[in-house]
Amino acid sequence: MVIAIDGPAASGKGTLSRRLADRLHFAHLDTGSLYRAVGLAVLRAGGNPSDAAQATEAAYALHPETTPLVLADPALRADEVASAASQVAIVPAVREALLAFQRDFAAYPPGNARGAVLDGRDIGTIVCPDADAKLFVTASVEARAERRLKELRERGVPVIYAAVLEDMRERDARDSQRAVAPLKPAADAFLLDTSSMNADQALDAAISFICSKTGLSDHCA
Ligand code: CDP
Repeated sequence: MVIAIDGPAASGKGTLSRRLADRLHFAHLDTGSLYRAVGLAVLRAGGNPSDAAQATEAAYALHPETTPLVLADPALRADEVASAASQVAIVPAVREALLAFQRDFAAYPPGNARGAVLDGRDIGTIVCPDADAKLFVTASVEARAERRLKELRERGVPVIYAAVLEDMRERDARDSQRAVAPLKPAADAFLLDTSSMNADQALDAAISFICSKTGLSDHCA
């Protein structure tokens, strides 16, 4: 069984996906970390993430199946890496290079899990269009900027709200206006606006949708 979770930055989709996977005993893939890994590789090589050739080379050099540590690197979480990720993500050849890994993960979840939760921007539309349940998680840009601000400050990064908001708007625009795999809800996705929900409320809403859609019952209580 495959659960597809899409949505913009800091919408709460990462936390929701992790908790869903825990609850359902499914494997979880944060596909944003693949794009971050490509962006980080280009930055570390002293390159330019908006250069399509450099980004493509880095994407084909990435082997997440043999080096899972790549996806656990704390450096992936830096804001400049998020920005580099959204630049490399525009390049069609980069997306193509990462597609097979994502689809394999969904078809053969590691650890013999009986299902997979994938989160990203194009899971329900491109990567897994036949997913058993699709959610599109949103929140107002202000609510998302507040969350990102809190997360960065908790990590000791000195930031101001206006800069985080501006960065969020820029990344939203780049993600939703790009020609290839733009951020948009699949026609059959359940829209979950988490602007005024905490993580528990978002999880409850997601679980009840997934259970009604898929007939899963053993983890729905
Ligand atoms: O955690 P956050 O939402 O800030 O970002 P992320 O999910 O780690 O994704 C970083 C960037 O990768 C996004 O801004 C997208 O441009 C890109 N991305 C994508 O294009 N397709 C995906 N399936 C996942 C991420």
